[in-house]
Amino acid sequence: MSKRKRVGLLTGGGDCPGLNAVIRAVTKSLLQQHDVDVVGFEDGFLGLIERRTRTLSFPEVSGILTQGGTILGASNKANPFNYYRRGGADVSAQVVKYCKDLRLSAVVALGGDGTMSIAHRFQEMGLPMVGVPKTIDNDLVGTDRTFGFDSAVTIATEAIDRIHTTAQSHHRIMIVETMGRYAGWIALYAGVASGSDVILIPEIPYSVDAIAEACNQRARAGQQFTIIAVAEGAKPEGGEQTVEQTVEDSPDPVRLGGVGHVLANELRDLVSSEVRTTVLGHMQRGGTPTPFDRTLSTAFGAYAAAMVSAEETGRMVALQGGRLTSVPLDEVANKTRTIPLDHPMLATAQAVNTSFGTSDFALEFSGTEPTGRMC
Ligand code: F6P
Repeated sequence: MSKRKRVGLLTGGGDCPGLNAVIRAVTKSLLQQHDVDVVGFEDGFLGLIERRTRTLSFPEVSGILTQGGTILGASNKANPFNYYRRGGADVSAQVVKYCKDLRLSAVVALGGDGTMSIAHRFQEMGLPMVGVPKTIDNDLVGTDRTFGFDSAVTIATEAIDRIHTTAQSHHRIMIVETMGRYAGWIALYAGVASGSDVILIPEIPYSVDAIAEACNQRARAGQQFTIIAVAEGAKPEGGEQTVEQTVEDSPDPVRLGGVGHVLANELRDLVSSEVRTTVLGHMQRGGTPTPFDRTLSTAFGAYAAAMVSAEETGRMVALQGGRLTSVPLDEVANKTRTIPLDHPMLATAQAVNTSFGTSDFALEFSGTEPTGRMC
């Protein structure tokens, strides 16, 4: 048996553009720069529990930089501390023993807040872990950007651009629902990039009357159409988020979705134009990553490899103020980075007359200039 050091690699939670680019960068960098072998686990933590591995060498990771999805497969159900296929049993000790049997010096986990939480618990049990921040939602604390976000914003922006021309032709109010869970990053950035007239995000609860007024004001000014970008987590003032379904056995079982249709039904009585809704859904997670995400993923992957090699574990790779760095996993685990109300992109949107579907926001927000850190 080879005496070279070995490191495990898995992609936790749902898929996201850029996963393969990170897998490629971690693997190439560890093999070439650090003389370390790489073992990939299939289907995230499920492969770790069920002992399904794949050796990652140059041929396996060659040509995958531009591919969407993950060559290792994904599962958003397997939590080793609460394993659904064994009635919620804690199988973490077996997992740690398995990694020791495989002679792994560390495991690199690509994932969101749930993955970072599991990674933190394994680190505490003595299994060295390094996290890489993945999610289209851009909602991980400790990093200015997650990989996948730029691709999702690009896809959503292109979709809204296309909706724009048909809205204009038919003089309609068009609602476009983006993903993003409990944070409005995708809706805000795609909304600004596409020049949406109304942007609705979970951080600023909306009033249907204020949205109708924004549409009617545009109509009075001669603009017979309105584009509304709504985050799936947006909710009415004093109301709740719209839940599409609950996924049994998932560590985070709530799936948001459908607010675009709810809003359309309520808006119809208050406006004179036709109202239609498009839900973008998983389209935002599929396909090739943007050049920004390819470079960010490659940089994150190479940095993670260097961290593993330097035995700098228990930490997640991060981008802060344009620099690569790392933050402790326990500062990231189970937390959500929502949009702060003094974020310059909100001020930017407001400066170009975008409505947030509320009359209160201007008051809370007054005095903030569209300056400062943008992401
Ligand atoms: O976290 C990424 C994300 O795409 C969210 O934006 C969305 O709410 C959720 O995952 C959807 O999960 P699933 O793929 O299980 O439907």
